Amino acid sequence: MRYLFSKLLRLGLFFLFSILATMAFCQEKKIKKLLKKMTLEEKIGQMNQNNGFFDATGPKPTEDWKARRYESIQKGGVGSMLNVRGVEKIRAMQKLAVENSRLGIPMIFGLDVIHGHKTIMPIPLAESASWDLKAIKKSAEVAAAEAAAEGLNWTFAPMVDISRDARWGRVMEGAGEDTYLASRIAEARVRGFQGTDLKSEKTIAACAKHFAAYGFIESGKDYNTADVGTSTLYNIILPPFKAAKDAGVRTFMNSFNELNGVPATGNKWLQRDILKGEWNFDGFMVSDWASIKEMMSHGYATDGKHCAELAANAGSDMDMESDLYIQFLKALVEEGKVKESDIDDAVHRILRVKMELGLFDDPYKYCDEEREKNTLGHPDHVKAALDMAKKSIVLLKNKNNLLPIPKSGKKITVIGDLADDKTSPLGNWRLAAEEESAVSFLEGLKEYSGNEITYSAGPKVLMKSPGFAESSEVNMTDRTGFDEAVKAAKGADIVLMVLGEHGMQSGEGRSRSEIGLPGLQQELLEAVFEINKSVVLVLTNGRPLTITWANDSIPAILETWHLGNQNGNAIAQVLYGDYNPSGKLPMSFPRSVGQIPIYYNYKNTGRPPGGWGVFNSHYNDQSTEPLYPFGYGLSYTTFDYSELKVEKQTQIPVSISVNVKNTGKVAGEEVVQLYIRDLVASVTRPIKELKGFKKINLQPGESKIVEFSLTEKELGFFDNQGKYIIEPGDFAVMIGGNSKKGQQGRFKLQLEGANHSDSEK
Ligand code: BGC
Repeated sequence: MRYLFSKLLRLGLFFLFSILATMAFCQEKKIKKLLKKMTLEEKIGQMNQNNGFFDATGPKPTEDWKARRYESIQKGGVGSMLNVRGVEKIRAMQKLAVENSRLGIPMIFGLDVIHGHKTIMPIPLAESASWDLKAIKKSAEVAAAEAAAEGLNWTFAPMVDISRDARWGRVMEGAGEDTYLASRIAEARVRGFQGTDLKSEKTIAACAKHFAAYGFIESGKDYNTADVGTSTLYNIILPPFKAAKDAGVRTFMNSFNELNGVPATGNKWLQRDILKGEWNFDGFMVSDWASIKEMMSHGYATDGKHCAELAANAGSDMDMESDLYIQFLKALVEEGKVKESDIDDAVHRILRVKMELGLFDDPYKYCDEEREKNTLGHPDHVKAALDMAKKSIVLLKNKNNLLPIPKSGKKITVIGDLADDKTSPLGNWRLAAEEESAVSFLEGLKEYSGNEITYSAGPKVLMKSPGFAESSEVNMTDRTGFDEAVKAAKGADIVLMVLGEHGMQSGEGRSRSEIGLPGLQQELLEAVFEINKSVVLVLTNGRPLTITWANDSIPAILETWHLGNQNGNAIAQVLYGDYNPSGKLPMSFPRSVGQIPIYYNYKNTGRPPGGWGVFNSHYNDQSTEPLYPFGYGLSYTTFDYSELKVEKQTQIPVSISVNVKNTGKVAGEEVVQLYIRDLVASVTRPIKELKGFKKINLQPGESKIVEFSLTEKELGFFDNQGKYIIEPGDFAVMIGGNSKKGQQGRFKLQLEGANHSDSEK
C-alpha cells in the first residue's frame, strides 16, 4: 500500500514537473518569436522605465519633454512605468502602449509598496522585530493584493540590505543587522508578494534591493561609498539576496553606491558574474532611480553615452528614469560597444516577467474598478495590520512591573507632540496611504480604557511636517507647551510619554549624525521625571535611538516604531495587557553614536575587551556593550532556559534542544534563538552567529522542549574566494532569549574529507 502510494506520488510529481517544463518551454519559445519581430529601438524601449509624468486620463501633455515621452510610449519606447497608481490611470497608460505601438507589448507598472499599500503596515524594521515569518508573509500578501487591485504589477521591495549603522535613515526599510534573520524575512516577503502564482490577481512581482552593499555605506550618510572586504560581502551582505533569489524573486534593483571603487550599477562582477552567472537568476535587474546617469558623478563615466554603455554591459537590464538607454543604446550597438545579444538577453528577461504576470494574456488584467473598490482597506487587511503591529512592539524595560497598566481607576497623563499625530505613525514610504489615516496613540488609548486621561502635547518635535523631499526641521527653540506638560505630569498615577522621531525623520535621504530624542524631547523627559517618577516612555521611531539616560532612569520603556494604520490600537492593547509583547530587536541599540557600527556578531580580535590594562579592544570612556543587544525584548512573563542538549555531537545534522519554561503568571510568546560559534576556522568567525529561531507560546508554568537541527546550511561559511566551506572542529552553541545570554553547549564536528563543497552557496 505504502509502496503504491509513493509510486503514485512520484508519478504525480513527474507529471506536474513535465507540465511546468512544457509551459516554460512554450513561454520561452513565444518570447524568442516576439524578440525576432522586434526592431532594435523596440527592444531598447523595453529596457526603459519612466516615472509617471502626466495625467494619463487627460489630453496629451503640451510641454515639450512630456509630449516626447508620451509619443515614446505610443511607439513602444517605454517598457515600464513607476509611480502611476489606480486602475483608471493605469488602464489609460497601458492603452497608450498596447493600442498604439506596433507590437502592442504591455508595460509593467511598478511602485514602492514597502509596508502595506492602502492599509499601512508597520515599517519593515518594526515587522522584523516580530520574528514572526507567518505574519510578515501575510503583511506582504495584503500589500500585494491591494497594489494589484490598484492596477500595479510590481513592487520595489523587499529591501534586503543589512545595516549596522542606525544613522542611516533607510534602516527603517530593512530587516536589521543580522544576515540569518534578514534572509528568512526576505524569503517570507518575497513569497508574500509573489504567492505561488504570479498570474493571480492578488500577487505582484517582488524586487530584492539594493544590489549590493547599500547598507554598508560609510558614516551612515545615504548614497555614500561602500568599501567592504570579501568576507563581509560573501557572509553578511550577499546571503539575503541569495535567499530572495532562491525564494523566486523575479527582479533585482542595483544600488546608488559604489562598491570597492565600482558603482553597483556598472558592476559587471555583481550583476553578470554573481547574480546572473553563479546564481543563475533569470529575472531582470532594474537600475535605481537615475543611478545609470550618476556614474558620471561617481567619476566612473565620462558622459551619458558612456554611462549607458557601462550599465548595459554590466547587466543592468532596465534604466529607471535616466533616459540614457533610449538616447544612446542604439548607437552603442551600431558602434559595436554593446552587443545586441546582451540587449536581447535583457529584453528576454523583461518579457519573461511580463509573461509570467499574465500581461500578455490580458494587459488590463489588473485593471478592475470593482476589485479595486472591494480590496483596498478591506477589513481583513486591517485585521492583519493590527496583528502585525502588536507583534512588532518590543518591551525594553519594565521595572517593578509598571506595565501593563490597569484599565480603570487611574489618572493618566499623556505627554508628547507625537501622541496625537495621525500621520507620523504611517512612517516613510506610504505612497498610497491617506494622510492622517493612522489611529493615533491617544485615540487608541482612549478606545481601550475607562481611565481618566489628560493630554498635554508639550513642544512641537518638528517645525512642520516635512514633505517627501524636505528634510525635517527639528524644533529647538519654540518652547510653547513645555511648562504646561511638566505641570500636567504632577499628580498623575502614570505618565505616558510618547517621544521619538516623526515618521518622515527616517527613510531615504534621512540620515542623522545624532540619534537621540530629537529637539526638546530629552529635556522634556528629564523635566517630567523630576516631577513624577511613574513614567512610561513610549518610543516611536524608525531606527535604534541612543536613549541611555532614559534606560538608566525611566522605569518602563516600550519600543513602538512606526506601526502603520493600527498604531494606537496596537499600543493600547500592549499597554493594557490585552496583548503580551513578544518582539525582539532586529538591531542593536547603541549607547552613543561613537559605538557605531555596532552589531552582535563581531569578531573576537587578538585583544578582546577585558584584557590586560588598557591594551585591549575597548573604549576608555564607555562600555563596548550596546544598550540593548540584538534579539533582546521583554515580556509580561518570564522564561527560564535549561537543559541544553546536543545530540549527535560529531555528525551533520547536529541536533540540539533546550527546555524553555514560562515562569511567570501570564501566557506569553518567546522567540527562542540559537547562536553558534565556530571556534577556530581558516577565516575567522564571529563570536556568535544566529542560526535558528523558533517562536513558541507558553501558558504560565508550561514548559516545552525546543529542538533545532544544524545542517550544512548553518555550519559553514564563505571563504575569501566566495566558496562555501564547512570545517571540522569545535563549535560553541548558545540558546536563549537574546544574543547576549543563554544556555551554553559545545560540539565537535568530525567531517570526512574536511573542506566540504560549495553546495549551499
Ligand atoms: C530608491 C529605491 C526606490 C526608487 C523608486 C530610489 O530613490 O533608492 O529604493 O525603489 O527610488 O522610487
